[in-house]
Order: sequence, then structure tokens, then C-alpha cells
Amino acid sequence: MAQERFFILFPLLALVLLVLGCVQPSLAKESRAEKFLRQHMDSNTSTINASYCNQMMNRRNMTVGRCKPVNTFIHEPLPDVQVICFQGNVTCKNGKPNCHQSSSKMRITDCRLKKGSKYPKCDYQTQQLQKSIIVACTLKQYQITASWIV
Ligand SMILES: *[C@@H]1O[C@H](CO)[C@@H](O)[C@H](O)[C@H]1NC(C)=O
Ligand SMILES: *[C@@H]1O[C@H](CO)[C@@H](O)[C@H](O)[C@H]1NC(C)=O
Ligand SMILES: *[C@@H]1O[C@H](CO)[C@@H](O)[C@H](O)[C@H]1NC(C)=O
Ligand SMILES: *[C@@H]1O[C@H](CO)[C@@H](O)[C@H](O)[C@H]1NC(C)=O
Repeated sequence: MAQERFFILFPLLALVLLVLGCVQPSLAKESRAEKFLRQHMDSNTSTINASYCNQMMNRRNMTVGRCKPVNTFIHEPLPDVQVICFQGNVTCKNGKPNCHQSSSKMRITDCRLKKGSKYPKCDYQTQQLQKSIIVACTLKQYQITASWIV
């Protein structure tokens, strides 16, 4: 009796797992690397005007549900950013050891929410800078997961 039930349950379980396995990729949240690309990479932009942050924060979905208060875009080719993961080790703000500081300066744009700006009217200040940046790396897949700026 118990054995019979097992033999019914087992294929059912296998089927559920199979379905979950098939469905998951399409339901999967964006990976950390994809999120990094969406939030921080804008390699092609060379001319930046005062409305850059308002446009880009909106276009890159960082004004959905709330205004992300601070964000940095990097205007360098992706390989130049990925290679930072092999440059100087530094301790991350959260105390983890997997942060790396770029050995060269990078062209970046800092976006900061203006004082008094309230969702859904996210109004940003755009500031272009050239500085060394710090990224957190997950070296398993040579993927960069986050960025912050010294
Ligand atoms: C950026 O430029 C490269 C080379 O010019 C091009 O292959 C790529 O599609 C561009 N990316 C975007 C998002 O426009
Ligand atoms: C600013 O640049 C964007 C492209 O990044 C362009 O679409 C927009 O018209 C420009 N705005 C002004 C005021 O020049
Ligand atoms: C922003 O969100 C919309 C709706 O969820 C999605 O279709 C679009 O691809 C997203 N854009 C980016 C840059 O991730
Ligand atoms: C250097 O960085 C790697 C990869 O991000 C990390 O795993 C390692 O713990 C760091 N080493 C030191 C000495 O901090």
C-alpha cells in the first residue's frame, strides 16, 4: 500500500520538479551581472547634458516604485570595467573582501536625487566625473555585481 503510493508520488514529484526547472529560467529575476549592466553601464554615451540622469534613471527602471536616491553610470567599455576585478583588492563597505579598485580613472556620471524631489517626480542632478571606482566582484563567473565610488 505504502509502496504503491510512493510509486505514484514519485513520478508526480519528478514532474513537479521538471516543470519548476523549465519554468524557472523565464521567471528568474535578473542576475546580479544583468542588474549591474542595467544600473551602471552606459559605454556608448559620450555627450551628456543636464537631463541625462532624469532620462537614464527612468529608462533603466530606477524610478519604478520609488526614486533610487544615488546611482553611478560608467562610460567605459565593459571589458575595461570587468578587468577591475583583477586589480587592487580593497575591503568593501560591508566588510567583505571582494571589492576592487580600478587602477585607472574612469569616465562616470553621478546621479543624485535633488532635495525636495518626491516620487513619482524623480528629479536628478547630473554630475560628470573622472575617478577611480570600486566594484564588488563575484569571481566565480567573472561577473561584477555592484559598484561604488571612492
Ligand atoms: C555601443 O557601441 C557598440 C560599438 O559601436 C555597438 O556594437 C553596441 O551595439 C552599442 N550599444 C548600444 C546599447 O547602443
Ligand atoms: C540631452 O541628451 C539626450 C540624449 O542623451 C537627448 O535626447 C536630449 O534631447 C538632450 N536634451 C537637451 C536639452 O539637449
Ligand atoms: C524596464 O521595465 C519594463 C517593464 O517591466 C521592461 O519591459 C524593460 O525591459 C525594463 N527596462 C530595462 C532597461 O531593464
Ligand atoms: C581579493 O579579491 C578576491 C576576489 O574578489 C577575494 O576572493 C579575495 O578574498 C581577496 N583577497 C584578499 C587578500 O583580500
